[in-house]
Amino acid sequence: MHTSGNEIHEVVGIGFGPSNLSLAVALEEHRSQTTGDPITAAFFERQPTLGWHRNMLLPSTKMQISFLKDLATFRNPASRYSFISYLHAAGRLAQFVNNQDFFPTRQEFHDYLEWAEAGFADRVSYSTEVTAVHLPDTVGTVDHVGVEIRDLIRGGTRLVRARNIVVSTGLVPKMPVGMERDERIWHSSQFLEKFRKLEHNRIRRVAVVGAGQSAAEIVRFIYDSIPGATVSAIMPSYGYSIADDTPFANRIFDADAVDDYYNGSQRSKDSFWRYHRNTNYGVVDDEVIRDLHQRAYDDEVRGTPRLDFLNLSRVDTMKQTGDEVRVTLHSVRDASASTHGFDLVICATGYDSMEPSRLLGDLEPLCLRDEEGRLSVQRDYSLATTPEVTCGIYLQGGTEHTHGLASSLLSNIAIRSGEIADSIAERRVSRQYSLA
Ligand code: FDA
Ligand code: NAP
Repeated sequence: MHTSGNEIHEVVGIGFGPSNLSLAVALEEHRSQTTGDPITAAFFERQPTLGWHRNMLLPSTKMQISFLKDLATFRNPASRYSFISYLHAAGRLAQFVNNQDFFPTRQEFHDYLEWAEAGFADRVSYSTEVTAVHLPDTVGTVDHVGVEIRDLIRGGTRLVRARNIVVSTGLVPKMPVGMERDERIWHSSQFLEKFRKLEHNRIRRVAVVGAGQSAAEIVRFIYDSIPGATVSAIMPSYGYSIADDTPFANRIFDADAVDDYYNGSQRSKDSFWRYHRNTNYGVVDDEVIRDLHQRAYDDEVRGTPRLDFLNLSRVDTMKQTGDEVRVTLHSVRDASASTHGFDLVICATGYDSMEPSRLLGDLEPLCLRDEEGRLSVQRDYSLATTPEVTCGIYLQGGTEHTHGLASSLLSNIAIRSGEIADSIAERRVSRQYSLA
């Protein structure tokens, strides 16, 4: 494919979730703080509108970070795109403060993201999917790339050129090994869309697999929404464990911790994960755990148990036959197997982190890798490449091995986006000098 189209941008953002929205804010504010030409940016997003895990926007679910860790505040407390500005614009600042809660609902945070997005609508193309990145036709220095974009409404592809790309395509839903989604076997990332189409009166037995936040929220929601159904929680642990968000542990999400992780030895990186994995993975907020336990206890008092905990169990196989899903469990307790039938199974079995290799296409062989075959990422979130590549390839996500635990989270997006914007601006200055 020829990469010589006319349209050229300083930055092309692939995906427009919170990370690249935060980058759009950082680039905008960079422009207002400096003189000279603005850094032009175009973002491509495959969803028809901005959507932040819409299928998990369950009623009353809360954010897992403070509202102050919004798109901008940690980088620029005076930003007009802060959560506080949003509250002010919405006329709710006083009531939010009176509510005395650091953790807004996910619904409110979504509303905030949509409010912020409205300031960048001219830079985002929705219903467009980036399918590949191409090297330029010219030989020698790779100072730009071609980004192939598929129009999901009209069909067809086009190419835009970019001096920098920022890949921010998000987490990838993960099913239990060897298992496929089906009409009655869903991943949690599909949940609400599927649930809305369900005939609730035909559902009696639901299984939810996993012991993380998604699983616990879905168990609670189904229990509350389908009063006639038994909900079986299949989990590898003895019971749901709490997500550690206590103050000292929470420091691993601070901006300084990124430097500590990045500059640390492999042994110190391993320690981050060993000691602090329970801040995020396979764990549940205290409030949801207590809610579920209260429901189970109330059931016991009434003598009508509807919550069934199949603990110390992993799903081995799953098959839909007619109106039923047959699930084989492997007991972690005694290695025995048992088979159960359900009307519906939801796999809240987590996500793989972003891995952009396939998307990078022709560019991928020019990207350097570490001794374990993972992409080498520099401190400014750009990929390390062979010397002929002078354009920037930045990642927002997929950097757990280099930048640590916050890589897939919102905690550090304001600072990270600012660092990427600074790096792009510096790259532009050095290009202008080299042309002079
Ligand atoms: P995100 O996944 O949000 O966005 C990526 C975007 O790229 C998507 O809109 C997708 O459609 C688009 N895209 C993908 N491929 C594309 C392509 N080829 N072309 C064009 N577009 C493409 N973290 C936290 O810190 N606090 C929290 O409260 C939560 N809550 C939470 C709830 C749930 C249900 C989940 C699953 C996860 C969280 N997280 C979280 C973690 C989560 O990763 C984080 O909130 C953000 O979604 C990260 O934002 P990104 O923009 O990086 O990814
Ligand atoms: P997760 O934390 O990775 O949990 C996945 C769970 O599935 C783990 O308990 C895992 O156990 C289990 N599992 C995997 N395969 C299994 C199998 N074959 N049989 C039984 N259990 C199996 O995923 P998540 O709950 O989706 O959370 C992902 C991210 O989204 C986290 O950052 C979380 O905080 C966030 N989130 C936030 C909110 C919110 O903001 N309110 C809501 C939902 C999710 P093993 O680890 O032992 O395999």
